Amino acid sequence: MAESETLPAWVDVGALEGLGADTPTARSAGGVPLVVVRRQDDSVVAYLDACPHRGVPLSETGRVLEDTLVCSVHFWRFTLPEGRQTHLPDICLQRWATRVTPAGRVEVRAPSPP
Ligand code: FES
Repeated sequence: MAESETLPAWVDVGALEGLGADTPTARSAGGVPLVVVRRQDDSVVAYLDACPHRGVPLSETGRVLEDTLVCSVHFWRFTLPEGRQTHLPDICLQRWATRVTPAGRVEVRAPSPP
């Protein structure tokens, strides 16, 4: 069983206030590393923290440029919020559902198994 299958439906990953706008930030949900990005409009996106190219953590190598998340190692770009590679759209980041509670907490939910 994958680790994410054992997680509760929604997992708190911290306060919205703790996320800088358009700053990829490392978070963990039940031991699963995530990269979380708060957009300028306070929407939040979360992905497995691994570039599909070489597996490096996008929380360290990623930069937001316009509506993309760019891995600075080889400059693969992923659309926000979908997480699709801009030139190879069959390659996607593993996207997690996100929500912000009325108390300003960011919660994530693991994707359903395919
Ligand atoms: S490791 Fe991310 S683009 Fe190559």
